[in-house]
Amino acid sequence: MRAGGFPTVIDDRIAQEFNDHIRVEMASSHLYLSMAAWCESHGLPGFSNWMRRQAEEEHQHALKFFNFLLTRGGRVRLADIPAPDQDWDSPLAVFEAAQIHEAEVSQRINTLVDTVMSVRDHAANAFLQWFVNEQVEEEASVGDVVNRLRLVGSEGRGILLVDQELQQREATRLPA
Ligand code: FEO
Repeated sequence: MRAGGFPTVIDDRIAQEFNDHIRVEMASSHLYLSMAAWCESHGLPGFSNWMRRQAEEEHQHALKFFNFLLTRGGRVRLADIPAPDQDWDSPLAVFEAAQIHEAEVSQRINTLVDTVMSVRDHAANAFLQWFVNEQVEEEASVGDVVNRLRLVGSEGRGILLVDQELQQREATRLPA
C-alpha cells in the first residue's frame, strides 16, 4: 500500500491505536503536572521539580507518536484528556500512584508492539522499541524514589533530604 509522497502508509488500525496512545502520553503529562502542583503546595519543591521534568518528558513522548504518525502519512486526531487526580495522602502515595501508572503504560506499549507485529509493520515496531526501553528506565526511576520514601517512612528530615536530591533532576532532551 503506497500513497503519494510517503513510504508505506500506516495501517488505519495502527493509526487509531497510535492516536489513542498520544492521548495516554498527554494524560500522563497532565497527571504528573497535577502531582507537581500537589508536591509544591505541600512544601516539597524537589518532588515538584521531579514531577515537572517527568511531565515534560511525557509531552515529548506524545510528540514522538505525533511525528511518527505524520511521517507515515497517518492522520493525527487529538482527543479529550481526562482530568487527573489532584489529591494524595503523602509523597509516598504520590510516587506509588506514579509507579502504578508507569506499569500500565508499559503494558500498553507491549500491547502496541503485539498489534504492529500482527500486521507486520516493522517500521512501527522499530519505533516502539525505543519506548520499550524507555519504560524500563521510567519504571526503575520512579521505583527508586518509592524505595527511598519507604525507607524514610514518615520521618520529616528524611523526606526533606530526598526532596533536596530530587531538586537536582534536570530537563532531559529526548532524541527526535
Ligand atoms: Fe511516556 Fe512514562 O510513559
